[in-house]
Amino acid sequence: MTKKIMIVFGTRPEAIKMAPVIKALEATPELEPITVVTGQHREMLQQVLDIFDLKPAYDLAIMQEKQTLTTITNKVLKGLDPILERVRPDMVLVHGDTTTTMAAAMAAFYHQIPVGHVEAGLRTWTKYSPYPEEMNRQLTDNLTDLYFAPSQQAAANLTREGHPRERIKITGNTVIDALHYTITEDYHHELLKRLTPTHRTILLTMHRRENQGKKMEGVFQAIRHVVESRGDIDLVYPVHLSPAVQKAAHRVFDGVDNVYLIDPLNVVDFHNLAARSYFIMTDSGGIQEEAPSLNRPVLVLRETTERPEGVKAGTLKLVGTDPATVEHEMNSLLENPLEYSAMAQAKNPYGDGHAAEKIVKSIQSFLAQV
Ligand code: UD1
Ligand code: UDP
Repeated sequence: MTKKIMIVFGTRPEAIKMAPVIKALEATPELEPITVVTGQHREMLQQVLDIFDLKPAYDLAIMQEKQTLTTITNKVLKGLDPILERVRPDMVLVHGDTTTTMAAAMAAFYHQIPVGHVEAGLRTWTKYSPYPEEMNRQLTDNLTDLYFAPSQQAAANLTREGHPRERIKITGNTVIDALHYTITEDYHHELLKRLTPTHRTILLTMHRRENQGKKMEGVFQAIRHVVESRGDIDLVYPVHLSPAVQKAAHRVFDGVDNVYLIDPLNVVDFHNLAARSYFIMTDSGGIQEEAPSLNRPVLVLRETTERPEGVKAGTLKLVGTDPATVEHEMNSLLENPLEYSAMAQAKNPYGDGHAAEKIVKSIQSFLAQV
């Protein structure tokens, strides 16, 4: 009999990393994928649905400007309740650590439906860093029945917490699968023509809640200072649609030469432009995982990371948000070719790009046993 797998997600990164899983489920006749989007993101989510041609069966459309964690949680729980009641899936699949993830896992638990967690086991062990993601993933893993760990380290974190070993599968990260769909050799973008050919391009993204406010402004001022004082780099910054981020980015960067503030890019554009940049500066989680496969160094604008694999491999450098340190690290990477090539040549620690197939096989054997 066909088993129903409900995939629930709400934000851009979840969609990018769940798309390969949905494709693999669609290719498996015994499993029926049913996609539910919470709509925690709107435009940024739609960009991904369009690129991967994903057609959700349900859209809770919960997004509102400056939404709070409480309203997201309330709306996801309330919206999923009747859908779970009606559809009664055999498993609910969630991804990562957003508030959609945590609330969807809780909704499934209330209906006593098994939960599969893709990208399980990431930890900083620091309650508010990142906020609220660290607690979102810990809470989700307490509600999970089948864990898809992207690395040995993530699996070890789960066993350390006492989750049963036989329920933990090491799959690699599905973002490596997604890169197979997006990266092309003969890529063109109008922006590439506008950049100065003799300049090196730095790609920036920054959006985390714990960085918003003073920290974010300080980092932006430091970057602006480096761009203005050197005159030999271009900065490309696709700005997250969060009003707090938009405001800070435009306040600091508007009118600055060699700075390109643009709308969020669709994922094909982002991956291909990332692959053609000199290095990346970010507080994003997903970008830290993609960079080793793209051979691009990353200065991580955070105090902690739940991606120690990338730091160990050498691609990621934890820089934090102190403006003087940010300036120093940017100049150092721009001026030291040896430092640069050591970071650029690190090996991708996130698997072989077949994570989605492994996840689907594990789901099949799990459901055969229950
Ligand atoms: C959310 C996740 C974060 C993830 C990030 C990926 C939570 C609490 N946070 O953070 O873990 O790293 O997504 O990007 O789950 N907005 C739009 N259009 C969009 C998307 C966002 O206008 O398509 C604006 C809205 O005003 C919204 C605000 O951005 O209220 C913030 O969105 P929200 O999902 O609450 O937080 P993110 O910072 O995006
Ligand atoms: N990304 C994108 N367009 C952009 C910026 C990022 O498609 O303009 C992709 C990026 O390649 C990565 C994901 O979005 O796969 C990361 O999302 P985000 O930084 O919003 O969230 P996080 O990973 O921090 O949760």
